[in-house]
Amino acid sequence: MKRIAIFASGNGSNAKAIIQYFQGNKNIRIETIVCNNPKAKVIEVARELNIPCRLITRQDLYIEDDILNFLKASHIDLIVLAGFLWLIPEKLLSAFPDKIINIHPALLPKFGGKNMYGNRVHESVLNAGEKETGITIHLLNEKYDEGKIKFQKTCAIDSSDSAEDISRKVQKLEHEWYPKIIEGILTS
Ligand code: GRF
Repeated sequence: MKRIAIFASGNGSNAKAIIQYFQGNKNIRIETIVCNNPKAKVIEVARELNIPCRLITRQDLYIEDDILNFLKASHIDLIVLAGFLWLIPEKLLSAFPDKIINIHPALLPKFGGKNMYGNRVHESVLNAGEKETGITIHLLNEKYDEGKIKFQKTCAIDSSDSAEDISRKVQKLEHEWYPKIIEGILTS
């Protein structure tokens, strides 16, 4: 059995797509959701879909070893970031080498980096006059959005598209591809 921990701080639409994709899978399961925001909608997603959700503070992640110990004790094979906004500390990166992945809602290396999240990304893409955008799934390193790219998928931007239209297109790609790429990583 391969075990996944999903780290999420927001709406949890990717977490939901991933959990639903692996429901009933005998070889891969979502062991836990780790969340840093007590108001995040992903907590409700976890409750609805019966996945344990662990709420953490900065102290838990950066100072104490609780999270690290918890992930090890839970035999986690892959940490999946799905809208988790805090930087992952070095101790987690070194405990899970090439076992932490992230999804970014644009075609890295463009439109990445600190503070590039949410609609800001899509607005920047629009303002830059790009003809296409998409998703990037990458391994994590100590810098935002700079780890090795595992997968990208593009979608076209129409001249009439707003940032919200782009967001919808990108989210569709995320929900379709993130679970499949996770499965590929865990079964290769
Ligand atoms: C996604 O757009 C993902 O690319 C980014 O954060 C967003 C999370 O959305 N890293 P959700 O919480 O899964 O709906």
